[in-house]
Amino acid sequence: MKHSGDPWTDSGMKDFNKRHEAPVRAFLTRLVTEPARHAKFLNMLSMLEHMGSRKIMLSQMNGVFTEDSLKHLAEEARHAYFFKRQAERVAKTSLDGWDEENTSARVPALMYFGRMDAGISKIVGDAAAYGWVSLIIELRACWLYGIYQDVLVESPLSLSLKSLLAEEDMHLAEMFAMCGGDHERLRALSRYETGLFEKLWAALEAEVHCSADNAKAA
Ligand SMILES: [Fe+2]
Ligand SMILES: [Fe+2]
Repeated sequence: MKHSGDPWTDSGMKDFNKRHEAPVRAFLTRLVTEPARHAKFLNMLSMLEHMGSRKIMLSQMNGVFTEDSLKHLAEEARHAYFFKRQAERVAKTSLDGWDEENTSARVPALMYFGRMDAGISKIVGDAAAYGWVSLIIELRACWLYGIYQDVLVESPLSLSLKSLLAEEDMHLAEMFAMCGGDHERLRALSRYETGLFEKLWAALEAEVHCSADNAKAA
C-alpha cells in the first residue's frame, strides 16, 4: 500500500537525532584511522545485520514467506557477510563469530537489538512486528550508514557502503509502504528506538575512552 509522505518526515527521526549527527560523525572520523578498533566496529555491524536477518527468518517461520521477505532476509544476511569481510580485511586476520574480543560493545549491541525488538513487538503485536521492527531498523541503518559513508569517502580506505545503502533505502521504502500509514505510531516508535540507540552509542564512546586510558597507562 502506498502512503503519502515519506518515512523521514513522518517519523521525525532526523529531528530526534539532529544533536547526534556531529558527535557520531566525529567518532567515525577518528575510528576509521584506527584499524584495530575499526575492525571491531565493523564486526559489531556484522552481528547486528546477522540478528536482523535471523529475526526476519524467525518472524516468518509460521507465516507465509513471500518472495519479498525472502529477498529481504537474504540481503540482510549478505550485509552481515559484507561487514564481516570488511572487518577481516581491516584487521588483516580472521574474526570468527562475535565475542568480547573481536566485537565493539557486544553486550550493549545485543541489548539494543533485543530491547527494540521486544519493545516494538509488545506495542504492535506479533503479527505486525516484522514490518514495524524492520521499518525502525531501516531508518537507523540509513541514518548511520549515510554518515559512515560520508566519512569513508573522505578517508583513504577503499571501503564503500554505496550499494548496501541502496538496498537499505529500498527496504525502508518497502517497510514504509507496508505499515508507515500510522504516523503517530511511527513517531513514537522512532523516538523509542532513538533512546535505545543513545545507550548503545554511549557504550561505544565509553569503550573508546576506556581503551585510550588503558593505552596511556601501558
Ligand atoms: Fe542491512
Ligand atoms: Fe535492510
